Amino acid sequence: MAKINQNYKQLQGSYLFAEVARRRTKFMSENPNAQIISLGIGDVTRPLPEAVLSGLHEAVDEMAEAGSFRGYGPEQGYDFLLNAIIENDYKARGIDLKTNEVFVSDGSKCDVGNIQEIFSLDSVVAVTDPVYPVYVDTNVMAGRSGEYVKDLNRYSNIVYLPCNAENNFIPSLPDKKVDLIYLCYPNNPTGMTLSKEELKKWVDFAKANKCIILYDSAYEAYIQEKDVPRSIYEIEGAKEVAIEFRSFSKTAGFTGVRCAYTVVPKEVLAYDEEGNAVPVNDLWNRRQTTKFNGCSYITQKGAAAVYTPEGKAQIAKLVDYYMANAKIIREGIAGLGIQVFGGVNAPYIWLKTPNNMGSWEFFDKLLNEANIVGTPGVGFGQSGQGYFRLTAFGSRENTEKAVERIKNLQF
Ligand code: MLT
Repeated sequence: MAKINQNYKQLQGSYLFAEVARRRTKFMSENPNAQIISLGIGDVTRPLPEAVLSGLHEAVDEMAEAGSFRGYGPEQGYDFLLNAIIENDYKARGIDLKTNEVFVSDGSKCDVGNIQEIFSLDSVVAVTDPVYPVYVDTNVMAGRSGEYVKDLNRYSNIVYLPCNAENNFIPSLPDKKVDLIYLCYPNNPTGMTLSKEELKKWVDFAKANKCIILYDSAYEAYIQEKDVPRSIYEIEGAKEVAIEFRSFSKTAGFTGVRCAYTVVPKEVLAYDEEGNAVPVNDLWNRRQTTKFNGCSYITQKGAAAVYTPEGKAQIAKLVDYYMANAKIIREGIAGLGIQVFGGVNAPYIWLKTPNNMGSWEFFDKLLNEANIVGTPGVGFGQSGQGYFRLTAFGSRENTEKAVERIKNLQF
């Protein structure tokens, strides 16, 4: 008899963005003439930059010739891309990495979801709350979460670190033993950042407690303010305790193309049952070579083009475009007397719902009365209740229209 992974029964409802899509589809079938504007899932809308397209086209042509055709590539990524990543994203900031410390993949969602596999099932996981749901759900699937406690909307074995307007979205260090800490900065969903001083507290904590920080910096390209850290490795000692995840999705419009990378420095150690230190890099390499056959050559050529002078200029323009949307949303909503956060160093705007409306109540109001799809804050965790997320990844036209529609609502 085939038996299911019982842990799946602990998962709550459907994955957040699937639930949002379900409600949207239902509304559309009942209101076929509604002109829906989607500012929900953080999916880019601008076409790929020219430089990337050229890289992709060239690679496609190479595949047509016996002499340049490529089959399986290295599971960790081609050297041309690894070197470009290291030179531009790290060395330029004074961070030294070797090519065997960077792993190219087909997306950060997979990497942040898969990374937990290499750690013990009894690891205690800490997450900020609200949080990108993949961190929690993948640990539920693995069996690390404990029971779901309905009244709390939380899992019994996960350590939640609330981030809200009261603490300016700065999580406190855990007051109990934890092993794995997920941090995402600039933050999804709140759009807020941590200063170097704040981030240093986490690195110091991880070192003192032999924890590992799983640092998701998928939105790094959106940082505008100079003193905000772009990589956790800007913090002294972080190479001993942090794994960093980066993506081309939000930076270069790759949500449909798929390319990302994960940095696992050789110094990061975890421990076996006997207390022996094991380099996590070896485990991740073993995992990837067993379960992953590499990101396609064509895709990696497109990603490498991001680092050419033209690519860099075009990407800066893309970021400016979305950040101008963020400003429109931020200022439009703030002008209504609604509290807004984020949107300065990130493409997400996190707002406090007016009149203490619940997140899903606000979702329904926006959908029914303004035909706008956003993401309810509570979908990211209990501390997101009463908050709501809008993305800056729409077109300019839709962003402006959406803000006008929100201005016409009665709260
Ligand atoms: C989001 O909307 O939070 C993101 O698009 C999710 C993702 O990147 O997977």
